[in-house]
Amino acid sequence: MIELFRDPRAWQGRMIAARDGGRRIALVPTMGYLHDGHLSLMREARRRAGPDGLAVASIFVNPAQFGPQEDLARYPRDLEGDLAKCASAGIDAVLAPERPEQVFAPGHQTWIEVGPVAQGLCGARRPGHFRGVATVVMKLFQLTRPRVALFGEKDWQQLQVIRAMVRDLDLDVEIVGMPIVREPDGLARSSRNAYLSPDERLRAVALSRALASAQERVRGGEREAARLTGEARASIESAGARVDYVEIVEPESLQPVTRAETGSRMLVAAYLGATRLIDNAALP
Ligand code: PAJ
Repeated sequence: MIELFRDPRAWQGRMIAARDGGRRIALVPTMGYLHDGHLSLMREARRRAGPDGLAVASIFVNPAQFGPQEDLARYPRDLEGDLAKCASAGIDAVLAPERPEQVFAPGHQTWIEVGPVAQGLCGARRPGHFRGVATVVMKLFQLTRPRVALFGEKDWQQLQVIRAMVRDLDLDVEIVGMPIVREPDGLARSSRNAYLSPDERLRAVALSRALASAQERVRGGEREAARLTGEARASIESAGARVDYVEIVEPESLQPVTRAETGSRMLVAAYLGATRLIDNAALP
């Protein structure tokens, strides 16, 4: 039976006791409304915790990472459905606080600011976003004390921000990045795909298509970042989406490059109507 905790303090007591008892804890932090991307992280958490360890997940729509004009209030939720999915993926226990104040108590005043890796791309478009992400992930680590925590490459910049935080603050946790899980047509799975109208859903494939064509162009010998991003931008816009950014960057520092090298990464963000989607891919 999967155990549900609503109270972070009770959760912390349980997790510390488990860790002190020698159990290996693998954590998957999420905001819920789970899909196959989340579940691939959970199955890997189960595998890495081992039969005697604890595979655990958190479900918390973190207000600290949403801007004032963003979708916090309407972010999709389905706790009952999520718990069934967690159980099917082998998760032993879930922390799902009922109220944001259980995590960010009134008077909360301590924040984690990660440097340049958090400043471009989504960091530039969503001021304060990665400060909210880094701080809640640090809190989840302190509440859970995992040996390993799993994150998706779908949020490539987030993954690099968390790696930087763990390195810089000497956190005793292994960070595992997991490949992007996609729909059959290539669209990266996302809780926010639920916002798309049927027409927007069809157009949304433009992001992954643009990434795939860029990979194709690089295989064909094109290396010029400005040309590759220009083409990707044009193809996304011709599908009726509004580009927020298209960049080719060094994969860990996320600094822009002028020439695509092996391993350089293309990252895109675009709006389909009011819905902002992101995707990324390594260039060959
Ligand atoms: P959320 O968007 O719910 O995502 C939780 C985890 O699932 C993240 O590590 C994300 O990268 C991963 N994920 C989402 N879609 C994926 C896909 N299609 N393939 C593979 N992995 C995927 O990211 C967050 O929540 C929050 O910022 C959080 C880290 C929980 C902090 O609040």
